[in-house]
Amino acid sequence: MREFTCKNIATAVITGFLVFSVAEVVAANEGMEHGSKHMSEAMAKQHHMMAMYVQAQVKINDSLRKSDARTVEAEAGKILVTIPDLKAAKPHKNLTQRKAMRQIAVAFEADIKMTVAAANKGHFARAKSAFAKAEARCNQCHAKFRD
Ligand code: HEC
Repeated sequence: MREFTCKNIATAVITGFLVFSVAEVVAANEGMEHGSKHMSEAMAKQHHMMAMYVQAQVKINDSLRKSDARTVEAEAGKILVTIPDLKAAKPHKNLTQRKAMRQIAVAFEADIKMTVAAANKGHFARAKSAFAKAEARCNQCHAKFRD
């Protein structure tokens, strides 16, 4: 009887230990995933920023087609306020080339500003080509810094 209890306790301890280890491994794996995908608040902010870029991009293209300079400016403004964050963003790859990423961000900002300036003057053809350049920067940056 006594032996039986001892065995039970031993089994319980071992089982408890195993459960604990498994939980730890699961937690570590989750942590790792979060480490690469959503590591920090900054990273979450970056995702949010990119999602907004997509929406702004659609609206800007639409407003350029409609020669609606006010909406172009309003939507471009949403992008422009995020440029400091974009310059400071942590890329997913080529982490050692953050300077190159900042340079793309600087050029991207200039293209967006050019888009707004041209649209405000009623030069929509020029505004469209400036925005096409900005869109090429999205792709340029992603090719190098997004996985
Ligand atoms: C200077 C670099 C840079 C520019 C310019 C840039 N992006 Fe990104 N983008 C990134 C990086 C780095 C990631 C991956 C990291 C991340 O997702 O947070 C990313 C991710 C994304 C994603 C994936 C979703 C997500 O949240 O990860 C989308 C969509 C996106 N960008 C859209 C755009 C659009 C649209 C533009 C242009 C109007 C743009 N980006 C301009 C660097 C840039």
